[in-house]
Amino acid sequence: MRASAADVQSNHTPARKVFVTGSTGAIGRYVVAALVDSGHEVTALVRTAEKSAAVRAQGATPIAASLFDRDELTVGLAGHDVVVNLASALPSTRQFLSDRAWRRNEHARIDGSTTLVDAALAAGVGTFIQESVAMIYPDKGADWITEDVPADRYPRAICSRVAEDNAHRITAAGGTGIVLRFGVFCGIGATHSEEMLTAARRHIVSVLGDADGYVSTIHLTDAAAAVVAALTAPAGTYNIVDDEPLTKRDYATALAAAVGKRPWLRVPGRAALLAGHRVTSLTRSLRVSNHRFRTATGWAPHYPSAREAWRATAAAAGACRHRATQV
Ligand SMILES: NC(=O)c1ccc[n+]([C@@H]2O[C@H](COP(=O)([O-])OP(=O)(O)OC[C@H]3O[C@@H](n4cnc5c(N)ncnc54)[C@H](OP(=O)(O)O)[C@@H]3O)[C@@H](O)[C@H]2O)c1
Repeated sequence: MRASAADVQSNHTPARKVFVTGSTGAIGRYVVAALVDSGHEVTALVRTAEKSAAVRAQGATPIAASLFDRDELTVGLAGHDVVVNLASALPSTRQFLSDRAWRRNEHARIDGSTTLVDAALAAGVGTFIQESVAMIYPDKGADWITEDVPADRYPRAICSRVAEDNAHRITAAGGTGIVLRFGVFCGIGATHSEEMLTAARRHIVSVLGDADGYVSTIHLTDAAAAVVAALTAPAGTYNIVDDEPLTKRDYATALAAAVGKRPWLRVPGRAALLAGHRVTSLTRSLRVSNHRFRTATGWAPHYPSAREAWRATAAAAGACRHRATQV
């Protein structure tokens, strides 16, 4: 049996004081829970009183500070060992094609990560973990993609590249800068996962680009376990994806099977290519390898592919729906 990341961490990692931004987002909520469960002391950046209460209920200490105020952040970061930057402002699915909607994300990713790294350096924080995306690679068809493949420079990728470069500034200054390139999230809390489950229940599944192209995915609990495991990783860039990227055809079939429906309609298919660079991150074929991170940390995904991840997510969504009808 494989050791879970939680096992690896609880056995070997001393408790660290970790500052998390984006703590209330899709991945952030899982990360805060995983860090607290592994015995780490977590400070969570929040923007509202309601979210402050939510992170407190998870066992973290909320802190209100601006992501764009270096002095405020430097004070907040004092005494922390690690920063985990998960803050971003990705547009909703409906606004995904809008350049304007992406500007907020660019502000959070570019100006936010720059300010946060400046503050981390000023506060003497030794380790900086920056979330990035596996969709940053060029299309490699059926070939496996490792971290040695140079990242692409398409417009939507620029903000991730800047955030990555900022994390590497920590390494250049003598600390440990770690970049985690996550695959497409699957899990309750990731809005697109929930939207895709709803559509699949109506027999509609999405395939973006060539159905024979690959999609690399990660369940949110495995993504969070990877962040915990990264606390002990050497500086560098790592892909955080499951073991078996599926073709988009198989990914759609796995989603439909998870909700017990036959897919009648596969949309938008190759028509998505017409949207050009705006959806380039989703239309290319990305068969990404997690080998480097597994070797560096002992982390292994609990859900080896999107088949198991969709099954678990559909079951969890079903349980949520059941609870809602009981109230
Ligand atoms: N979705 C995917 O499949 C996927 C896959 C790979 C990588 N990623 C990357 O993972 C990152 C996190 O994604 P996610 O799905 O967790 O995003 P999300 O659910 O939208 O969460 C974003 C988080 O950032 C915070 N935030 C946004 N703007 C902020 C600001 N100006 N100041 C401080 N905090 C701010 C939000 O706080 P509030 O709660 O207060 O709004 C929230 O906690 C993104 O950069 C994304 O590119 C996503």
